[in-house]
Amino acid sequence: MTTSTPLTKGELIDQRGRSELEFLQALRAGLTPLRKQVRERVDATGVLDTPYEDIAELRTRVDGVLEELQAQRLLGIILSWSRGVATPRAAAAFNRKRSEFELLATPAGEVVDHIGDDVPRYWDYEFHGTAGGWDGHPHMGFIHHEMIYHYLLKKIFPGDIFGQRGVIAAAAPAGTYERIVDLGCGTGQYTLKLAETYPTAKITAVDLSRTQVQYALRRAEDAGITITGIHAAAENTGLPGGEADLVTSFILLHEVPPHTIRQLFVEAFRLLKPGGHVHFSDVAPYSERSPYQAWLDDWDAAHGNEPWWRTSATIDLVQAAADAGFVDINQVAHGPESYPWVTTARKPE
Ligand SMILES: C[S@@+](CC[C@H](N)C(=O)[O-])C[C@H]1O[C@@H](n2cnc3c(N)ncnc32)[C@H](O)[C@@H]1O
Repeated sequence: MTTSTPLTKGELIDQRGRSELEFLQALRAGLTPLRKQVRERVDATGVLDTPYEDIAELRTRVDGVLEELQAQRLLGIILSWSRGVATPRAAAAFNRKRSEFELLATPAGEVVDHIGDDVPRYWDYEFHGTAGGWDGHPHMGFIHHEMIYHYLLKKIFPGDIFGQRGVIAAAAPAGTYERIVDLGCGTGQYTLKLAETYPTAKITAVDLSRTQVQYALRRAEDAGITITGIHAAAENTGLPGGEADLVTSFILLHEVPPHTIRQLFVEAFRLLKPGGHVHFSDVAPYSERSPYQAWLDDWDAAHGNEPWWRTSATIDLVQAAADAGFVDINQVAHGPESYPWVTTARKPE
């Protein structure tokens, strides 16, 4: 007798969608030898042998020795092109089987609207090359989660790219929390890990993308977990102050401009009870990366529609936390090359 593994939701896409996404997958996997050539050229030139002043100077220095390298040019072109087509192809695949996918994507519960149309100006950008932005389709949360992340990207990146979220949830300083706010919850990848780690906690998940938080609700329902989903800017949640004992986020900070990062600490402080913790996990500061990795992060961000990566990798988060009133501020690296990089602090009693 043979047993078969049930299909994931993303695997239900039609033959055309599968072949289009698998082509992109093969193309992205085929970039590894090009990346290797780039690394070899950088090492051979000795361009990283002396310390760099700042990231702009490092970029000029390394980009200069790669100018004539065909592999580097191809990398830029292929990455930009594949990012630009992935979401439209996935969205078209969704639309071809719309009635079936809608049943799998729609939550029973409602997302609570705390924002209306009052979205911040920086939101008007196609982050990661997502055509139409994070809400460019009524079910972009499902499309992103099931088709882009789990069907396409998960197979390209080595290791468990989602497992880190459980480690970060468990690394919050108190052993237990009762009221948690997850800022920039997306489709709930971190939210569900928080729920597993703190099973008695009441969890509020906030995102500026209505469709992402909507699919987070559905995923929580499928897992038998109750969360409250709020459509709001994380820096201005509209939630009551002084109620949470943990305000946390996973890879939200690098999505927003520096003044908003500072405001996120201010909002976290407002939301917390005295003695509560803020626990923000994000990309590693360039100063904690090797020079090659810092250059690569910055190059990838520039070619990957990540307008705020550089500023978030260079901003002083300890100062931002202190300015908001936090004490006991700690920063800890939880993985290789200092990613995820976590800033944790306490609101004084
Ligand atoms: C990289 S995703 C991370 C999602 C989730 N935390 C996870 O672990 O997968 C960043 C999320 O932040 C959201 N976002 C960006 N700016 C925001 C803001 N100012 N307020 C709330 N959410 C925001 C995006 O819509 C997106 O869902």
